[in-house]
Amino acid sequence: MSSALLDVLSGRRPERRPVWLMRQAGRYLPEYREVRAKAGSFLNLCYAPDLAAEVTLQPLRRFDLDAAIVFADILVVPDAMGCRVEFKENEGPLLQEVTDMEAVRALGDGRGARQFEAVCETLRKVRQGLPPEKVLIGFCGAPWTVASYMVQGKGACRSKAVAVAEQGEAWFEALIGALVSVSTDYLLMQIEAGAQVLQIFDSWAGDLNAAGRERWVKAPIRAIIEGVRAKRPDVPVIVFGRGIGADHNDLCRAVGANAVSVEQGHDMLALLHQLPHHVAVQGNLAPELLVTGGREMAEAAQALCAALPKERHIFNLGHGILQTTPPEHVAELLSVIRVVDGAA
Ligand code: CP3
Repeated sequence: MSSALLDVLSGRRPERRPVWLMRQAGRYLPEYREVRAKAGSFLNLCYAPDLAAEVTLQPLRRFDLDAAIVFADILVVPDAMGCRVEFKENEGPLLQEVTDMEAVRALGDGRGARQFEAVCETLRKVRQGLPPEKVLIGFCGAPWTVASYMVQGKGACRSKAVAVAEQGEAWFEALIGALVSVSTDYLLMQIEAGAQVLQIFDSWAGDLNAAGRERWVKAPIRAIIEGVRAKRPDVPVIVFGRGIGADHNDLCRAVGANAVSVEQGHDMLALLHQLPHHVAVQGNLAPELLVTGGREMAEAAQALCAALPKERHIFNLGHGILQTTPPEHVAELLSVIRVVDGAA
């Protein structure tokens, strides 16, 4: 069966423009908040396959989206490596700090980790509940972004992690190497469990300068993609180096991705002209416009669709859905996109 997202990622013309939204499962949905309350903590929810599969499917029941993204978190990887992770209510993540070679050597390789088994079980359950034409997306964080949480010990600031990356000490290089290896295995496990497309999130790529980005963003992501392709060359990969502006074209070429996800405020058409012809762009409506809704949102979405051919564009936001988003605005957005494309 043809599916719009896989068509675009394979260079075929889709019947309609594929749409999914980062953080499409989450706190803006009342039914998510209900399941989340039942699970207790956020990580409990990530590791309870029945509940995680349920929240993965929730947005697809409400909206005519083209893909589901497995409900988990990028910090599942450090947790599976034995680096303690905790989500404090309204504070974001707290991690056991990794700041020397001894701490890096103490990390596990993730093999057989119950955290990975749980996410794979979620993927299998989602696939059972997902209509065949809907695509299932697996993901991981890129080594730099994940390492930045491990070095800093929290999410609010990254000054220490940036300084460590700039110094390029041996233990930091070893940490990035360990994350490349574990993330590659984890993505391959996700494919085995049913993931048909992968996204690699480098949310903090924009914090590093050009030299830092070569070494800690592009090289490690390239190594992961090469490792995955060596075994599963058929599975497309989307790369999201958030906040890197003019560097998206180079990132995409350096890592060999099938599509590049772009933050809001960046000219997608100019980027499309730079990219190789088989590569698609994903994005980049500002999440704030989905909170606003109405005419302003509609006009911005129409402008994106008018500028970008549907065979090379995956409609998405520039970053995750905000918690204050009224769910009705997501339905409105989808109908605007379908009408512009004549697919309503
Ligand atoms: O629907 C989906 O997109 C799938 C699930 C998903 C989550 N996180 C669920 C989540 C995905 C793909 C992520 C990725 C993720 N996690 C990133 C990369 C993308 C980005 O946003 O830049 C990052 C940096 C994280 C780390 C993370 N997770 C932080 C900093 C926080 C706390 C901030 C916040 O929004 O609360 C989380 C928590 C988190 N991950 C929530 C969800 C739904 C909210 C937790 C809750 O329900 O209490």
